[in-house]
Amino acid sequence: MNILVINGPNLNMLGNRDSDYYGTKTLNDALRYCREISETLGVSITSFQSNFEGDIIKYIQDNVSNSVGIIINAGALTHYSYALSDALIDAKLPVVEVHISNVYSREKHRSKSVITALSIGQVAGLGWRGYGYAIELIVQHLKGT
Ligand code: DQA
Repeated sequence: MNILVINGPNLNMLGNRDSDYYGTKTLNDALRYCREISETLGVSITSFQSNFEGDIIKYIQDNVSNSVGIIINAGALTHYSYALSDALIDAKLPVVEVHISNVYSREKHRSKSVITALSIGQVAGLGWRGYGYAIELIVQHLKGT
C-alpha cells in the first residue's frame, strides 16, 4: 500500500521559514519521520514537492493508479487552486489535508481551503508531526477502523 505525500509551494524552504509558524525542521526531516511512521504501520510512502501548480497536478494524475491515498500540504494553493482541487477529486482516493501552522489563527485568507471538502480530514497547527498523524488517519480509514 503506497501513500503519496505531496508538498506544494515554499515547503521546500521549511527550516528557513518563520519558525513561529513552521518550526525549525526541514522538509527532509518531516519526510524521514513520515517514512518511520509508515514503516511501523506497514505502508510505504512516495513523496513529491513542487513550487508549480501544474507539476503537482501532473504528479497526481501520473501516480494515482499505484497509490491508495494522498496526504497533501498544498501551501498557499490550498486557499485558491480549483485546478488542484479538481485533480484531487478526479484521483478518487482518500485525501488528508495537512498544514504545519494553525491556518485558522493567521490571516483571514488562510482560513479558506478548496481542499477540505474533498478530504476525509484535515490536520492543522500540529507542526511537522501533523504529517505522521495524517498517515495514521489514512491507514485507519483504509482499514475501516
Ligand atoms: C501552510 C499554510 C499556508 O497558508 C501557507 O501558504 C504555507 C504553509 C502550512 O503548512 O501551515 O505555505 O500550508
